[in-house]
Amino acid sequence: MSLSVKHLLGIKDLTPEDIDLILRTADNFKDVLQRPIKKVPTLRDTTIVNLFYENSTRTRISFELAEKRLSADTINFTASGSSVSKGETLIDTVNNILSMKVDMVVMRHSASGAPHFLAQHINASIVNAGDGINEHPTQALLDAFSIREKLGDLKGKKVALFGDIMHSRVALSNIYLLTKMGAEVIVCGPPTLIPKHIEKLGVKVSYDVRKTLEWCDVANVLRIQLERQNKPLFSTLREYSLYYGINKAMLDSLKKEIIIMHPGPINRGVELNSDVADSKNSIILDQVQNGVAVRMAVLYLLAGKKEE
Ligand code: NCD
Repeated sequence: MSLSVKHLLGIKDLTPEDIDLILRTADNFKDVLQRPIKKVPTLRDTTIVNLFYENSTRTRISFELAEKRLSADTINFTASGSSVSKGETLIDTVNNILSMKVDMVVMRHSASGAPHFLAQHINASIVNAGDGINEHPTQALLDAFSIREKLGDLKGKKVALFGDIMHSRVALSNIYLLTKMGAEVIVCGPPTLIPKHIEKLGVKVSYDVRKTLEWCDVANVLRIQLERQNKPLFSTLREYSLYYGINKAMLDSLKKEIIIMHPGPINRGVELNSDVADSKNSIILDQVQNGVAVRMAVLYLLAGKKEE
């Protein structure tokens, strides 16, 4: 069994079989991570560069840990403090790093399509760790892994994505993944933060948080991506929180238990109140833990493509 792709640029390019293979491989790595010695020699001969042109806490640490648990050699590059400020291009930077015998590139960039562009110019496998407002494939995979762990199969599950759908790469990757795997998806947020014609991706749109909470099995709550909004799309964060924020009283009024997810970083008191983020319904820290196993699976499967 192997992936149909050489790079992980987005969920858009994956088949349901690819997604299933990654999730099942991650099950095995999750077992490895529960052992006293959480390390396997699988990528002992592989060198991976983590190329981060944009801020990151979880994703960056998660990739680095995944690489270390697989015994790969890793190097970390951050744009700030590098020769990017001296005018070096992306391709030059990457080719210089690759000439030192680096095998794989994990990359986060604020420009949508940056890893796709790079993939046309280099031979090494690329893993997209988030490109602008486009995709964040490993986040959607770890979200799917976490839902599957709690609820079993993804097929027929009702997942609601709340918040800034327009600027969220997590939303787009989740939409591709969940619809490919047969889940039902509703996106919910203020009309100004929901792209026109998004229904064409196979999702429904709602502007009513309460009704959507009543409908769903899983609520994946997203951050307002203020850094990507160049003009105001709602009046104030206070108002957003009033109409679209999720609090414990809302969860308590539902006739059922739902799962609360968030990719982080949380803006507490804006999209999610602390009494929800820290409640028993929340699997936010499980998502983070599962991220390492899922990224191990992706790196392992892509490294295998090299030999084909
Ligand atoms: C997300 C991102 O960077 O796209 N965070 C993450 O990777 N866990 C979501 C966000 O920044 O809101």
